[in-house]
Amino acid sequence: MSYLELTSHSPEQTKKFGVRIGELALPGDILLLVGGLGTGKTCLTQGIAWGLGIKEYTMSPSFVIVRELYGRLPLYHIDLYRLDHLEEIVELGLDDYLYGNGICVVEWADNGLSLLPSEHLLIQISYLADTERSFQLKPSSKRYLEIATQLKNFIPEQVQELDNH
Ligand SMILES: Nc1ncnc2c1ncn2[C@@H]1O[C@H](COP(=O)(O)OP(=O)(O)O)[C@@H](O)[C@H]1O
Ligand SMILES: [Mg+2]
Repeated sequence: MSYLELTSHSPEQTKKFGVRIGELALPGDILLLVGGLGTGKTCLTQGIAWGLGIKEYTMSPSFVIVRELYGRLPLYHIDLYRLDHLEEIVELGLDDYLYGNGICVVEWADNGLSLLPSEHLLIQISYLADTERSFQLKPSSKRYLEIATQLKNFIPEQVQELDNH
């Protein structure tokens, strides 16, 4: 069941929401993003990266499986869009990322749920209208309930302006 649902009215709002998540993140956190093409998974990840103090531009790592970015904590940006990657992933193993000291953000997580930790924060993104998206947060353990609870107080205007990025 969904614990919290937020509506974003613009890409900027989605990024600010991500920034807040990045600020709250702790080593080992697993964030699973589920939602169709163009719903805003990479946009949210960009915000998370900024919230971790990462200045690099985040693009969808569709041609690699994992991109490593370094800020306050490492961000492992994983993309499971291409199903043929899954075999590769099983061979290589993602455990160093998933059970390391960084933050894992997984796009298209629904393509590989059986390979991913059962303790995670699932963020289901749905397209509502041209610039509107809904974010349903589904925490699977106490740690993720804690993040979701902190995000309840999220008000975009209170988050530092990102215009200089
Ligand atoms: N509220 C919103 N939140 C996120 N993206 C939005 C929003 N409204 C419109 N968009 C647009 O939707 C697209 C999302 O792209 P992207 O983040 O790459 O999606 P995904 O990674 O899920 O395929 C971008 O072009 C973005 O500008
Ligand atoms: Mg993407």
